[in-house]
Formats: sequence, structure tokens, C-alpha cells
Amino acid sequence: MQTRITELFGIEHPIVLPGMSWISTPELVAAVCNAGGLGILASGPLSQQQTRDAIATIRSLTDKPFGIGITLMMPGAKQNAKIALELQVPVINFSLGKGDWLVEGAKQYGGKVIATVVTEKHALAAQKSGVDALLVTGHEAAAHGGEVTSLCLVPNIVDIVDIPVIAAGGFADSRGLVAALALGADAVAMGSRFATSLESSVHQNVKNAVIEKRVADTIYSKNFDGLYARVMKTPAAQKATKKPMNFLIATIKSFKAAKMVDMPLWKLLVGLIAQFDKIKMLSLFGAATEKLEAATIDGDLENGVQFIGQSQGVIHEVKSVQTIINDVVSGAETRIQSLANKQV
Ligand SMILES: Cc1cc2nc3c(=O)[nH]c(=O)nc-3n(C[C@H](O)[C@H](O)[C@H](O)COP(=O)(O)O)c2cc1C
Repeated sequence: MQTRITELFGIEHPIVLPGMSWISTPELVAAVCNAGGLGILASGPLSQQQTRDAIATIRSLTDKPFGIGITLMMPGAKQNAKIALELQVPVINFSLGKGDWLVEGAKQYGGKVIATVVTEKHALAAQKSGVDALLVTGHEAAAHGGEVTSLCLVPNIVDIVDIPVIAAGGFADSRGLVAALALGADAVAMGSRFATSLESSVHQNVKNAVIEKRVADTIYSKNFDGLYARVMKTPAAQKATKKPMNFLIATIKSFKAAKMVDMPLWKLLVGLIAQFDKIKMLSLFGAATEKLEAATIDGDLENGVQFIGQSQGVIHEVKSVQTIINDVVSGAETRIQSLANKQV
């Protein structure tokens, strides 16, 4: 199936693995690329050395194009982005910040840039900055989807930009791909679906919970990490999202999280002071790391909190990446054909 996105990135299928901390690892990225999609490495929890190593590992596992996700607001993100430019990563996907300099840097070596957006305003600004494509994340999405549902947000943004759009948030099977194409998108990004694949490093407890949970079993709240985010509905998540964490506790916990990416305390403090207007949000964001790790890595859904999308309600099986992609693509082709033949 060819679209503007498959042509732009030189991939076989209009399917993207988005960046997901601890999940979009080199192995999962390479599995998606080798199956014909575009895998995007999550660089959020990686130190500079780990970012270099992860890029090298992907290159050892696949010769296909791949991407790297950069959450610009996070401490350490700019340094990781500079490494991605230096190592000429084919696709840079940035979010939560201004990426003009990334566009400039990637253009030097023929790299492509995707901006993740959740509003019209940011979509227009990103297009103006010269990005090659947008990843538009609707309300249904795991983690930081927008206020507006994919059903309305995707066509709304498609109408106001000229560049191709990857639809994210609620897409997990062949029906989702057909729907996204019908809305004017050129590809889908599937987070919850690939997180629940055989190759995903998410703890088995989380995979089992995704299969069991229903479409309404998520919570969308600003109280977890300071930004509106969607998580799996569990007693721990209900407790964690009831009210925002105390600022002082959040700051201490965010220092612990910074250690994870080998960031010296002085650098973190300079970063926090430089973004003083966002200091509370950054602290809460960092503080959430502990609970996310507990769920995603340790499988502790009693105390941890798991990002997940509403699409968990249509995920009924743990399948390999290759099977997921085959099923989505062949199912979509059949559906498109049967829709074309339908008598109205
Ligand atoms: C388990 C999980 C972890 C995620 N972690 C991150 C993350 O660390 N950073 C980020 O920007 N998005 C993260 N996301 C969101 C995805 O990048 C993507 O926007 C979302 O999954 C799309 O919606 P879907 O889950 O309905 O496919 C995560 C998603 C999942 C399912």
C-alpha cells in the first residue's frame, strides 16, 4: 500500500511504531522496520552514551530507515537530538518544543523530520518550520494525546496543512488504518498495539491486563505527570491521578529520574531554571517516572501506573510485529475493496 508517507520515508507499509519510553527499544524498532513499517526509538530514558549505543544496535539489526523520538521539553533531550543529527538518523520525530534547528540539521544530510502535534496552532507552526510530516495525536491515545478525538482532529489538521499526516490515537487494527486513510491521513502510528506485541519489552502482566481491559478502562488526567495523559484504569492509577503530587516531593523524585539519564544535578538545575515558568510541570513529569517504570518494567500494576490508549479495547491477542503488520495491511486492503463494492 503506497501513500505519501511510504514514499517520503521509503518504507513498504503506512505503519509507524511511535516512541514509547522503555518500549520502543532498538529490538522493537528493528522488528517494525524489518516488517516494512517505520520504527521510532524512544530516547527519553536514555543517556547520551545509551543513545549512541541504541542507534548502533538498530543499525546492526536492520538496514531499513528508522527514526528517533525526542521529547524536547525533557532534560537531556537536546543533547540526544544532537547525537541523532551527528549520527545522521534518517528520521527525527520531535514533540513538546520548537524543532526548527532539527529541521535545519536533518536537511544537511537528507534526513526527514516529523513533528508530533495535538492542535491546529502547533500543526501550522510545525509546517512553517519546514518539517516533512506531522504525527497528529488524538484524545484516544496512550499518554499525551490531545483534547480532541482523532475522528475530528485528523481531518481538521489534514484540511489546513499540505504535508502528510500520520494519525495516532485509537488505531490498532485494519479498521483503524482504513478509517485513518478515509480521514485524509497517510499512515497510522500504533502505540498500544505494538506495546502489546510479542517483541515488546513491556512486562507480561501489562500485556495480560491490556487483553483483559475494555475500551473504557482508561483515565485521562492532568494530575499524573502534569500534562493531560491517558493511563490504564487500575486502583493505583486512580489513586495517583486523584490530585497532583506535592511540588517538593515531585522535585525530589524528578532528580532521581534525572540520574537515570546520567544527568549531573547542576545541569538539571540549570535546565529547570532556564524553563522556570514550567518548573512545576517539569518536576511532575520527572516524578512520574518512578510509577511508570514500576508498571512497564516490573509489571507492578498494584503500585505502578501504565500509559495505555483506549484502543486496548480492540486488542485481543499478543501477536508478533510481523503478524500485526500483515493483518493490518491485508485486512485494510480487503476492507477497502469490499467498501468499494458495497451497494449504497
Ligand atoms: C505503553 C506506552 C508508553 C508510551 N510512552 C510514551 C513516551 O514515553 N513518550 C511519548 O511521547 N509517548 C508515549 N506513548 C504514546 C505513543 O507515542 C503514541 O502517541 C500513542 O500510543 C498513540 O496512541 P495509541 O496508543 O492509541 O496507539 C506511549 C504509549 C504507550 C502505549
